[in-house]
Amino acid sequence: MNSANSAAVVVGVDGSERALRAVRLAAAEARRRHRPLRVVHAFIWPLLRVPVEPPEGAPPGGGLRHQAEQVVADAVAAAEAAAPGVPVTGEIIDGEAAAVLLGESPAAALIVLGDRGLGGFASLVVGSVAVQVTTYADCPVLVARGEEHAGGPVVVGVDGSPASRATVEFAAEQASLRGAALHALHAYRHPASSGPGDMQPLVYDESALRGEEDQVLTESLAGVADRYPDVPITHRAVRKRPAAALTEASRDALLVVVGGRGHGPLTGLLLGSVSHAVLHHSASPVAVVRAPE
Ligand SMILES: Nc1ncnc2c1ncn2[C@@H]1O[C@H](COP(=O)(O)OP(=O)(O)OP(=O)(O)O)[C@@H](O)[C@H]1O
Ligand SMILES: [Mg+2]
Repeated sequence: MNSANSAAVVVGVDGSERALRAVRLAAAEARRRHRPLRVVHAFIWPLLRVPVEPPEGAPPGGGLRHQAEQVVADAVAAAEAAAPGVPVTGEIIDGEAAAVLLGESPAAALIVLGDRGLGGFASLVVGSVAVQVTTYADCPVLVARGEEHAGGPVVVGVDGSPASRATVEFAAEQASLRGAALHALHAYRHPASSGPGDMQPLVYDESALRGEEDQVLTESLAGVADRYPDVPITHRAVRKRPAAALTEASRDALLVVVGGRGHGPLTGLLLGSVSHAVLHHSASPVAVVRAPE
């Protein structure tokens, strides 16, 4: 399982340039964590009964299976160049991409993906495989987008939900591995309501509210400084839409870390709306960390 030291960093590749960016991030991550890197290409064609071998008499280098082998070989070579010394293996797995990658997730330390792939819908900001895998994976998922802003902090979005703990822990570990600072950001819009139909007071004490929101941060960060004494930690509560605050912070961040789900039990199976928005607008790579069930 993913606590084992041998659990690999897994990267999904589809032959696109964006996936190769993911390969480079994944290789660096495997090196930092002293983990092997596993390159996976999901190969849909056999399931669709499309012939994958070259037709009889055609050159042996033709055919879809050969193309898939080339995609994996290129990605393995890119990983080895990016992080010499990291053990890298490549595999073609027959199946639909999101299903194959989700199948990898219980045993993976981390899955790394590009934000887009070969898909042709120009208006998509983040591809469907990336969205499905970040939504349902059993391990953290890192999506390559924007830039790692060197010297910037690892920014973590904190909403005070129990799930925030796993998110903060992952972010602190990332900061420690990268020799970066950790910046915990809690954005709030108005006093928290206590349930459906709850009336918001028309007038409330702004400073008391700020105190409560600061409390959310303090609780979420409890123990982190002790566990990661090497990591400088800053935190801020801002009165702003969470997705906007995190997107803004991503402009100087090394990485933005968000949780996989929102507050309520009904949203339990879905990627929270804040995480979804950050995934679509971040100027730095985004890690989505779902809390364990
Ligand atoms: N067949 C695949 N095998 C392995 N990983 C894949 C595969 N397809 C996509 N991925 C991974 O997912 C990332 C995002 O690609 P995705 O398919 O979500 O975007 P897209 O192709 O632009 O959109 P869509 O497929 O929804 O039209 C890729 O960069 C790659 O890391
Ligand atoms: Mg695709």
